[in-house]
Amino acid sequence: MQTRLKVIANNIYRYEVAIVFSFRTFSNDIENNEKWWRSTRPISGVEILMSPKYPKDKFVYGKLFYLFGQRFLGNGLVTAQDHDQWYKQRRIMDPAFSSLYLRGLMGTFNERAEKLMDKLSEVADNKTEAHMHRLFNCVTLDVIAKVAFGVDLDLMENTTPFPQAIELCLKGMVFHVRDSFFWLNPRNRPFMNKVREACSLLRTTGAQWIHKRKVAMQNGEDVPKDILTQIIKTAGKEESMTQEDEEFMLDNFVTFFIAGQETTANQLAFCIMELARLPDVLEKVKKEVDEVIGMKQEISYDELGQLVYLSQVLKETLRMYPTAPGTSRDVMEDIVIDGVHIPRGVNCVFSSYVNGRMEKFFKDPLTFDPDRFHPDAPKPYYCYYPFALGPRSCLGQNFAQMEAKVVMAKLLQRFDFSLVPGQSFDILDNGTLRPKSGVVCSVRHRK
Ligand code: HEM
Repeated sequence: MQTRLKVIANNIYRYEVAIVFSFRTFSNDIENNEKWWRSTRPISGVEILMSPKYPKDKFVYGKLFYLFGQRFLGNGLVTAQDHDQWYKQRRIMDPAFSSLYLRGLMGTFNERAEKLMDKLSEVADNKTEAHMHRLFNCVTLDVIAKVAFGVDLDLMENTTPFPQAIELCLKGMVFHVRDSFFWLNPRNRPFMNKVREACSLLRTTGAQWIHKRKVAMQNGEDVPKDILTQIIKTAGKEESMTQEDEEFMLDNFVTFFIAGQETTANQLAFCIMELARLPDVLEKVKKEVDEVIGMKQEISYDELGQLVYLSQVLKETLRMYPTAPGTSRDVMEDIVIDGVHIPRGVNCVFSSYVNGRMEKFFKDPLTFDPDRFHPDAPKPYYCYYPFALGPRSCLGQNFAQMEAKVVMAKLLQRFDFSLVPGQSFDILDNGTLRPKSGVVCSVRHRK
């Protein structure tokens, strides 16, 4: 234990994490935000992220308890500020993300990705265009609904109101957090009503799916040990369940419904956007896919491990486009880092977007170069953290990267694609980052 602590302490001096102090309203124009970020001073603040002593900040995470008066993420895993309450939930959730459990999800990842391939096949046959971001959203939502909640949405064939509801909640979140006066403007009322309805739809759906699962459990049916079962366990015993316990389960339902889907879809879309303009990288990654999986339809867990260059491509995608671009903490006591005095009560924002684009950490930061993540390259500890760092880092990191690899490997195995001309490469900051253009592609079967 002592040795481990020493290693971490050493690294604090060798690597840096940009932290900035935030009191500003953001716009969803990333360029504007970037100018502001760049004017801030990076200092080594990794100890703040690594320690459970600094809670998620009240200003941002506290605000997400409700969205315009409708309970939203409440005390769920992402937003919980009380350490003990968070820790209890995280321990219960961990088994649903163990590597053994994740291996068992390969079938679902393959099956759902296959439905996307059928859709792309249709697009290629009909010579129409594919809105890649939209399609990736469908596949990741299909996966999370099936894997986490045992529900078949089959969004490649059916339409449901969920993608739009998630989109509205995210948009609402941005205004709610970044513009304290938004709710005061009467012109915003129709939008706020829509956001409340969207949020309520997600929570009502959660209540129905949880009820169904509880009935199955009471009837002694064999239920999967999935995220839904773990969510039910976080709320305590059925006999003594209070209204607050019920609400708490819904907090986590909405948390996983949103956190488990959108960021991965955005990563996939950015990845296609970059590959479409970098023929050398594209050729290299296709070659690897051909060598590792050839013509096989079902990709195994072990084969995912052999797709080393594809992993590098996905990592580089998140360096330039960290789809969840940062996190923030409350500093409850005066501290001094790198000679900078951080007074008690300050809100520290850690931006993986800024870190990922700093020359100091990454040479030619605006060049997409997957070889930065070559297994023999020096590891970019603490200046690359698209899944955050420390105890509050992303629980679904491995899940997300397995899913992304299965989807990308199948797509590269079967299709050539090119961007429909005239699209921008801009980033839309909608709380999470996504490609503004939607990444519209023409798709052809590979010869
Ligand atoms: C490319 C995909 C993903 C990225 C880039 C990402 C990134 C992140 C980041 C940066 C955080 C910290 C958020 C904060 O502090 O505000 C986080 C937390 C979290 N993520 Fe992810 N995530 C991804 C996919 C997923 C998936 C697929 C799941 C679930 C299936 C998931 C579940 C969670 C949970 C539960 C937390 C809260 C962890 C805690 O505080 O204990 N994420 N993620």
